[in-house]
Amino acid sequence: MSVNYSALPEGAQPILSLRKVSKNFGAVAALTEIDLDVYPGEVVAIVGDNGAGKSTLVKTLAGAHSPTTGQIWFEGKEIVMKGPSDALELGIATVFQDLALCENLDVVANIFLGQEKSPLHLDETEMEVKAWTLLNELAARIPNVRDVVASLSGGQRQTVAIARSLLLNPKIIMLDEPTAALGVAQTAEVLNLIERVKEKGLGVIMISHNMQDVRAVADRVVVLRLGKNNGVFNADASNEVLIGAITGATDNAVSRREKRIAELEEQVEVTV
Ligand SMILES: Nc1ncnc2c1ncn2[C@@H]1O[C@H](COP(=O)(O)OP(=O)(O)OP(=O)(O)O)[C@@H](O)[C@H]1O
Ligand SMILES: [Mg+2]
Repeated sequence: MSVNYSALPEGAQPILSLRKVSKNFGAVAALTEIDLDVYPGEVVAIVGDNGAGKSTLVKTLAGAHSPTTGQIWFEGKEIVMKGPSDALELGIATVFQDLALCENLDVVANIFLGQEKSPLHLDETEMEVKAWTLLNELAARIPNVRDVVASLSGGQRQTVAIARSLLLNPKIIMLDEPTAALGVAQTAEVLNLIERVKEKGLGVIMISHNMQDVRAVADRVVVLRLGKNNGVFNADASNEVLIGAITGATDNAVSRREKRIAELEEQVEVTV
């Protein structure tokens, strides 16, 4: 399987690398020997069927799970995270699927949620300016940062969650199913946003079930199947190839072919 890395700047080093990362929950092997590299300014899509290990991978990189075995490297150093705050401190931000926004608070308050104890110490006006700056950088369509989140559309909520994750200048941002609950126009808006984040030079990891969205923004597509790497593809890989890797159909085709070759070889040996 050839993957085109030529789009990357020459000599580029990955921000994040996983080597043989496994995660077991008791007898369940949720991840088995996963390898992954994420470079600055690229979008890596992680796709896979239900139970493939996508969320476990995200939670492991977010510091919420410790790998059972394997190594995680960040900016050239091996890291061991003890919890989510370690991931944030390093510069690995996560937008979880449920977004974790407060409906009754406005956009500014949501962007700064949980930062009360951070070294930012901004007053209300400074927070409002910072919120506008972040949203403008993303070319986001939020009419008023004083609107409560309850009044926003799904796409706008995703926007707020992404803006919040950028507050501490991360190097990597992980998005779990960012377009899952969105209509066509809102999906386009969020995909544009992901482009902006990528242009800022961040490494983006996007979990998605939607091949069209993946194709639209991803530089590479990593397929997980039953907790294992089942191929890395360019975004121009056909639907058939991607779905095949996700469902294991390619496994079957390959193993059928290998079996057939072995049978033919056996016949040749017999006749000689
Ligand atoms: N905390 C846990 N304890 C025990 N088993 C778990 C735990 N978390 C995940 N698993 C198991 O690990 C495997 C991978 O699950 P995971 O949630 O990572 O899959 P996923 O790819 O995110 O699936 P989905 O598309 O359904 O969200 C599944 O078999 C799941 O049951
Ligand atoms: Mg999941």
